[in-house]
Amino acid sequence: MKLTGKVVLVTGSSQGIGQAIAIRLAQEGADVVVNYHSHPEEAEAVKAKIESLGRRSVAVGADLSSVAGTSKLIDDGVAALGKIDILVNNAGVEKNASFWDVTEHDYDLVLNTNLKGPFFATQAFVKHLQGRKAPGKIINISSVHEDLPFPHFTAYCASKGGLKMMTRNLSIELAPFGITINNIAPGAIETPINTALLHDPAKLNALLQNIPLNRLGQPGDVSSAVAFLASSDADYITGTTLVIDGGLTWNYSEQ
Ligand SMILES: NC(=O)c1ccc[n+]([C@@H]2O[C@H](COP(=O)([O-])OP(=O)(O)OC[C@H]3O[C@@H](n4cnc5c(N)ncnc54)[C@H](O)[C@@H]3O)[C@@H](O)[C@H]2O)c1
Repeated sequence: MKLTGKVVLVTGSSQGIGQAIAIRLAQEGADVVVNYHSHPEEAEAVKAKIESLGRRSVAVGADLSSVAGTSKLIDDGVAALGKIDILVNNAGVEKNASFWDVTEHDYDLVLNTNLKGPFFATQAFVKHLQGRKAPGKIINISSVHEDLPFPHFTAYCASKGGLKMMTRNLSIELAPFGITINNIAPGAIETPINTALLHDPAKLNALLQNIPLNRLGQPGDVSSAVAFLASSDADYITGTTLVIDGGLTWNYSEQ
């Protein structure tokens, strides 16, 4: 077990990739702050699973699209479990629309959840670490779309591209405090965010043709990489992105 004695906060961990990360890090010995936005019962189930592994856990409701929500989450997490050592910024949303149809509401929802949320959650977390004079680790669940274009998801790509530069910048600014920050960039992972795709056989088949390993990723494919970056095995890694996409990003060939 690589995380014994550590406390981890995973945003958006009532389902999908976040849920898998929360449980995997508990299996590595960490106590876990579970965060949910609108499904307390799912978060309580994740908390119960973590407690069944012999670890401490708390489920905290918070909307991470506002600064008040990010501050509340860090404060409530620390109050419940005493400290936080590792922050996983996982919560995210996407909206499908042609560029000329994107509404201000949807733009704000995507940018506020995917970029402003991680920005201010990280700020509150860093202040907590500085108060303890403690080192720490930040892991952002970005996307292959921090680099790769995704037409009709321009706000999403802008948010993940912004997250990439936030990570590059903060790796330098936070290094003197012993704080590392890295991104994980999943490709296509089988979670509720992809429900529409999973029910569209033609689109799904076309996507699979583009994935050299010829399958969708599973949440466990992402959580195992988080377990590595969260551990002391990754102490010298900061400011980078670990891509987990079955080969999708670089799958270009000329016939
Ligand atoms: N599934 C994929 O193919 C894929 C690929 C690349 C990146 N990602 C990223 O992985 C992360 C997790 O996505 P997922 O696939 O598990 O999707 P998901 O929809 O299952 O989970 C997203 C989570 O974010 C939470 N969330 C959304 N808005 C929130 C808010 N305002 N405050 C707090 N929590 C909020 C949701 O409640 C949910 O728990 C996201 O950042 C997503 O962009 C997913």
